[in-house]
Amino acid sequence: METNRRILVTGGCGFIGANFVRLLLAHQPDWRVINLDKLTYAGNLQNLEGVVEGEQYRFVKADICDASAMEALFVEEQIDLVAHFAAESHVDRSITGPAAFIQTNIVGTFTLLEAARKAWLSDTWKGNDPRFLHISTDEVYGSLGDTGMFTETTPFDPRSPYSASKASSDHLVNAYLHTYDLPVLITNCSNNYGPYQFPEKLIPLVFHNSTTGKELPIYGDGKYVRDWLYVKDHCEAIVEVLIKGKIGQSYNIGGNNEKQNLEVVTLICDTLDKKIGLPVSGAPRRELITFVKDRLGHDRRYAIDASFIREQLGWEPKVTFEEGIEKTVDWYLANQDWVGSVIDGTYLKYYEKMYG
Ligand code: NAD
Ligand code: DAU
Repeated sequence: METNRRILVTGGCGFIGANFVRLLLAHQPDWRVINLDKLTYAGNLQNLEGVVEGEQYRFVKADICDASAMEALFVEEQIDLVAHFAAESHVDRSITGPAAFIQTNIVGTFTLLEAARKAWLSDTWKGNDPRFLHISTDEVYGSLGDTGMFTETTPFDPRSPYSASKASSDHLVNAYLHTYDLPVLITNCSNNYGPYQFPEKLIPLVFHNSTTGKELPIYGDGKYVRDWLYVKDHCEAIVEVLIKGKIGQSYNIGGNNEKQNLEVVTLICDTLDKKIGLPVSGAPRRELITFVKDRLGHDRRYAIDASFIREQLGWEPKVTFEEGIEKTVDWYLANQDWVGSVIDGTYLKYYEKMYG
């Protein structure tokens, strides 16, 4: 089989990365996919169970901060596309332990940019037109009041160590375009949900706790707003940007799906009550909701204006929030062993520290 593209996917054993690898293997049969992942607590080989290594797919366990390994891999595999997902991604962890965020999100992105620069801008580069897509977040824009939306020109105003580290990496990516002409693109996306999301994030945490009779911790008043996007829609947008996006452009990606956290949590509870019946206590699962101490510096509202990517690339989300939650609840119900397999002692200690 001739492969016409050789894509490096960093963080392909994480939540979005694994969904993305699966999408590529199904829909881009003539691309060779090299998935590079350090396998932190958030990266699990179980997320790619059934995916077999061969001509179309290779897994490499490595750290994106390892410069010599990154440079060697670009040469060995003649990488000509990069989809850079690898990151420390959980805001709460960035508050209790920011160092790993600085290291992976900033130094790691810098290391990859250097590897790409050395490979692609050398006189000996003979491959296709290369492209480096950096996957980023809407959190770089800060927090909104009751109105307004983030556009591609909204000034950066990151407010947590996580979002500040992502904003720094976005700036570095843009600097490599302007300074070296490295062919880069950036996507800034809103909150994803769907299969394989690690159960520290709101939606899988609520699923897991409400099926095991634990309290559902809601930070502050529960009226914080996020713009939810089904993960497959996000992955499809990334493919569009990789193939058709304009070099140097940032694209905002969102679900046009603003919900308060309490609405999200009650919908999951009610969906579960309908699908599997009430718990043995006989009380609806929403009664497990418990208001807890707020997240430090908690951003009030995010909302993405995704009209630019719709107009330029013809992408828009296909899955409504109600359909997406239904699919997600069905997936977690059918894959309860998966949750058990990704939670280890380290996670349980983290949970204990966060929620008591
Ligand atoms: P995740 O935490 O589920 O996965 C991150 C992956 O990166 C894991 O597989 C982990 O092992 C790997 N990784 C971490 N450090 C590494 C290192 N030093 N070297 C190599 N691999 C390393 O994250 P996610 O939710 O899938 O997010 C993926 C990307 O998308 C991140 O860059 C995140 O900032 C961005 N993003 C996420 C969301 C969201 O809602 N989840 C929204 C917008 C943007
Ligand atoms: O907006 C994109 C971002 O979305 C991504 O860049 C991040 O990687 C991703 O983790 C996500 O960040 P959030 O902080 O918005 O997601 P999280 O699932 O942690 O929280 C969603 C909302 O729910 C937020 O307002 C905090 C609240 N929350 C979260 C948890 C874990 C609770 O009320 N209770 C909880 O236990």
